[in-house]
Amino acid sequence: MSDSVPVLTIDGPGGAGKGTISRLVAARLGWHLLDSGALYRLTALAAVKHEVPLDDEPALAGIAASLDVVFLAENDATTVLLEGEDATTAIRTEQVGDAASRVAALPAVRQALLQRQRNFRKAPGLVADGRDMGTVVFTDAPLKIFLTASASERARRRHLQLREAGVDASLSSLLKEIQARDARDMQRSVAPLKPAIDAITLDTTRLTIPEVVDRLTELLTERGLASAT
Ligand code: DC
Repeated sequence: MSDSVPVLTIDGPGGAGKGTISRLVAARLGWHLLDSGALYRLTALAAVKHEVPLDDEPALAGIAASLDVVFLAENDATTVLLEGEDATTAIRTEQVGDAASRVAALPAVRQALLQRQRNFRKAPGLVADGRDMGTVVFTDAPLKIFLTASASERARRRHLQLREAGVDASLSSLLKEIQARDARDMQRSVAPLKPAIDAITLDTTRLTIPEVVDRLTELLTERGLASAT
């Protein structure tokens, strides 16, 4: 695969800040954004909606292939429509996240979503957020980042995020959920979560969001993919 449109891939475990960082970097550069996790979440949500069991691989692959989804980017937020209905909030629940992690372990589902993800690669560039952006989907990307943070820091961030949304959750149960999801994402046989051999690993445990965005912009500039502004 070779394409002149540049892609910045940002892979890593859940809660490392990929979503926020990807959105900010894409906005700074004026590039497109692919939130690939949303596609797995939407597949899981559509399966629940149509009462398809989460282990029926052929049926789930059919759902993934025919997913009726629209991403509406407005200012700094994206509205997600599934079959014409607003699914922006529904795909963010812990239950849908858990179901997405199960659905994402199925090879036929991953295959069904592959081309749909590649179609996001459009000029002037793409920031692709996920688990296998650098290892499978955009192997020729000129800059690959593996964004990580300690599990306890990721649990702390998630706890804070939920508290701000008025949701009371226990820190220890969040940590257990994060560890279980990491294990499932890293141990699956297809497209397991791991850094691409040519990826740069960035540990965000002790970094602020603006620090990470600045570092990525610097790396893009060094490689001639963005101009220094
Ligand atoms: O990043 P997220 O939490 O929205 O991802 C939801 C689930 O989908 C997560 O368990 C990992 C999986 N996923 C994946 O397997 N491959 C991707 N490219 C993106 C997400």
